[in-house]
Amino acid sequence: MITGVSRGLGEALFEQLAADREHRVAGLGRTFTEKQRGLAAAEPERVALYTMDFAAATLDLARPLRWAAEGASHAYLILNAGMVEPVGPVGQLDPVVVRDSIAVNLTVPMLAASTFLTVLPPGTPGTVLFISSGAATRPIEGWAAYCAAKAGGEMFFRVLAEERPGITVASINPGRMDTGMQGVLRRSEFPTKQSYVDAYEEGTLGRPEDVAARIISEHVTRG
Ligand SMILES: NC(=O)c1ccc[n+]([C@@H]2O[C@H](COP(=O)([O-])OP(=O)(O)OC[C@H]3O[C@@H](n4cnc5c(N)ncnc54)[C@H](OP(=O)(O)O)[C@@H]3O)[C@@H](O)[C@H]2O)c1
Repeated sequence: MITGVSRGLGEALFEQLAADREHRVAGLGRTFTEKQRGLAAAEPERVALYTMDFAAATLDLARPLRWAAEGASHAYLILNAGMVEPVGPVGQLDPVVVRDSIAVNLTVPMLAASTFLTVLPPGTPGTVLFISSGAATRPIEGWAAYCAAKAGGEMFFRVLAEERPGITVASINPGRMDTGMQGVLRRSEFPTKQSYVDAYEEGTLGRPEDVAARIISEHVTRG
């Protein structure tokens, strides 16, 4: 099961995993691409989409996770959905967006991982991958909420790894990628913005397709 599959890294992960008929894939998020909807309609036993807004007060995470884990030889939870907003100095952050940021970047990954443990059939190997960021370990002025959420997520998954050695748990820093999130940064104001503009103009941002392929080859096994 992958969160946030409508664009960026999540779309690339979904596309590459769903293209392999060995995998059953569930996508969770607010929106989906036409291609994803077509695939889910054509192969409902292998591809499922669950519409939900992670900033909502209550979420039914058990249903998609059960679908994803049932009958799997190895179940994966890929916590990819994220938002970098609010961008700005502490003291000027929109409180509603701060709450959404913590919900999307931290609370939902925590809740989804907790639910995953409860629905994972006994004896089924499980892997939880938290898509993190360099911002988890490096303070970036203007990104306080995002840095805090990613740092919190990494620590949560370190604790989970200690508690459940039988589950494979990893926090992954995908590096800067040419996605909508980088577009948000180029449209925002913060002290180090120019380096993000330069990286885009110089073409040094990673391609989400390449990052997805690397994550899959390093962390997902077939069969
Ligand atoms: N891009 C980078 O340079 C970079 C660097 C380091 C780490 N990361 C991390 O990599 C991951 C993927 O980022 P990306 O660059 O691919 O971002 P993106 O292009 O902005 O895509 C974000 C995804 O998260 C979903 N999402 C956002 N808010 C949501 C909500 N309230 N409810 C449900 N889904 C929501 C979006 O789906 P909908 O809007 O359709 O709901 C979308 O599919 C994130 O965890 C990000 O923090 C990115």
